[in-house]
Amino acid sequence: MKSLIRSAVVCPDATKKYPAIVYGKGIYLYDESGKGYLDASSGSAAVSNLGYGIPEIAEIIREQSLKVSVLPTHVFSSRVVDDYFDALVDFAPPGFSKVWTVTSGTEAVESAIKLALQYHRVKGDEKRYKIVSRHTSYHGNSVFMLDIGGMPIRKKIYDQWMNHFPHISAANTYRKPDHLDEEAYVDMLADEFEQTLLEGDPGTFAAFIAEPVVGAAMGAVPAPPGYLERMYHICRKYGLLFISDEVLAGFGRVGTRFGVEKFNVIPDIIAAGKGISGGYFPLSAVLASREVMEPFVQQNLPFLGGHTYACNPLGAAIGRFVLTYIAEQNLVQKAEIQGRYLKEKLQYLYKHDIVGDVRGEGLLLGIELVQDKVTKKPFPPEMNIAKRIGELAMEEGVVLYPGKGTNDGFTGDHILISPPLIINQEECDQIANVLDLCIEKVVGVPA
Ligand SMILES: Cc1ncc(COP(=O)(O)O)c(C=O)c1O
Repeated sequence: MKSLIRSAVVCPDATKKYPAIVYGKGIYLYDESGKGYLDASSGSAAVSNLGYGIPEIAEIIREQSLKVSVLPTHVFSSRVVDDYFDALVDFAPPGFSKVWTVTSGTEAVESAIKLALQYHRVKGDEKRYKIVSRHTSYHGNSVFMLDIGGMPIRKKIYDQWMNHFPHISAANTYRKPDHLDEEAYVDMLADEFEQTLLEGDPGTFAAFIAEPVVGAAMGAVPAPPGYLERMYHICRKYGLLFISDEVLAGFGRVGTRFGVEKFNVIPDIIAAGKGISGGYFPLSAVLASREVMEPFVQQNLPFLGGHTYACNPLGAAIGRFVLTYIAEQNLVQKAEIQGRYLKEKLQYLYKHDIVGDVRGEGLLLGIELVQDKVTKKPFPPEMNIAKRIGELAMEEGVVLYPGKGTNDGFTGDHILISPPLIINQEECDQIANVLDLCIEKVVGVPA
């Protein structure tokens, strides 16, 4: 009973027995029976960018916790935190001047949005409070972040608690209207954004938020060419801040330091998490441009919004090591190179009738599964097609990250593939081969 209660809390299926993991090494996790699993999900998901079992990190945790692990930050600073924040500013896009850490992606995105609101207030603009986000997006699991996010199934139960800020269309080239080419599609999305602002009084909007490559919500859907630039310019035109949610895409995952950099956009604020610590500590961060911080600096006003573990030295020591490791191991470049290799391998899966789209950037890749390739008709959700492929892959020793709701928040199946950035070509081959086998099996077996 005890373990049943625990399972119901942390696992999606309380009736199921999950393999108990004892340890991880490199990109593999090992269960109690000794079976190894190639973690092509990197935790849930895209967290373990450096792989598992790095001895230096164990040493850093020991050393730093012997020195100091948490501080009364209202009266002290510490060298380890200051050094880390300097290094994070250096890692950020040009023009960024301020960072601070919190502990989850949800906190980081929510803090980024709070910063946008406070920025307008500090400038004396009390009218701006609305946030524009997109359908089929995920920005965190607090009620406010579910509100901002665009996943109807997750937010439905809290509907009475929500602000219902406007959501605009997701940008997904695979599902664009057939009669539009890519350029016209981007025009259409940009017009929708502008129209939404005009209809809601542009002077009441504080910020626009988007993931540069939509990760878990849609299965690695990259922004169409030119899309983010257009959205950025509309933000500029109407006085909104542009927030890039890089919780999943940041820290090298998509082959650039931050995802937006791949699309030639420098946002006003970045929210980061997951890969920032490689999973060795619950760490996330807000990164802000000099322009955003300017009014705070001029008026000597702080950002209002502390958390107990914000800016703590233990997280900073681990985060600092992760930055060094990313640089020394060339993980950003590796994500690009191995990502290209793996994506090429995955093209082979198009031979299956149900593989509609293979997509993604760097090592944030996805496969969308469809009933009909021509019409792109999704599978009925109750068939759990992606989940079943994920289960078959587990039997073969590969962890994938299947998802549902890809098409419209309700229907549509995808598989996210986001292995650690240290993956080699042989391991990429293993992922592609297992996917091939499991898709073949699922097609042959009725639901
Ligand atoms: C894009 C994005 N934003 C925010 C979050 C929330 O992060 P966390 O689960 O660490 O709160 C996630 C988590 O999956 C995410 O993918």
